[in-house]
Amino acid sequence: MKITWYGHSAVMVEDKKKILIDPFIEGNPTATVRKEELHPDIILVTHGHGDHLGNAIEISKKNDIKVVAIYELAEYLSSKGVDALGMNYSGTFDFNGIEISMVYALHTAGISEDNFQHSGGLPCGFIIKGSKIVYHAGDTGIFGDMELIGKLYKPEISMLPIGGFFTMGISEAVLAAKMLNTKYVIPIHYNTFDLIRQNPEDLKKKLEGIANVIIFKPGETKEF
Ligand code: NI
Ligand code: MN
Repeated sequence: MKITWYGHSAVMVEDKKKILIDPFIEGNPTATVRKEELHPDIILVTHGHGDHLGNAIEISKKNDIKVVAIYELAEYLSSKGVDALGMNYSGTFDFNGIEISMVYALHTAGISEDNFQHSGGLPCGFIIKGSKIVYHAGDTGIFGDMELIGKLYKPEISMLPIGGFFTMGISEAVLAAKMLNTKYVIPIHYNTFDLIRQNPEDLKKKLEGIANVIIFKPGETKEF
């Protein structure tokens, strides 16, 4: 399995198929690619905030692929002509033998486009079960049911926001990693903007002997 981080929460998980999550590319000061260069097989969006929905609409239309999101956000995307699939918590979608499950996230979820006229339902995270089990937490504060996610899905690789201010910071991410009982933590949602400055090395130190913190440079790909 290959994972590429484009900065912020934008990630490509490649495991026979290319799964693009939260494609905030245009306007992302850390992005190293252009939206036209991305050719995923499916897109997952955790919530309607602009730094997550990002360029999902254009990329899905250009590549003629589905966008998976929570039901209300999917309805909104359908109204924009997107081939959207609306799911809800604990649901699982089989995508060519890769199981994609939707899990809870503790955040807000209004759709930034059209000035928050649409609720966008609720935010979510995703579990991707391919050759490895990956958890993308989306934007979230810490919540006790991460322990349940750990027990139920047993994520080996967990992408956790660490920027603070809008999401968990480093101390929360440390506890989250413990609750998830995950082998690897990939920090996301930090250093994109001034409000979310963090040093991921601090997370690495605090999780020494508990989980391996894998720090990506924007645009970097690593094999798991
Ligand atoms: Ni958000
Ligand atoms: Mn965000």
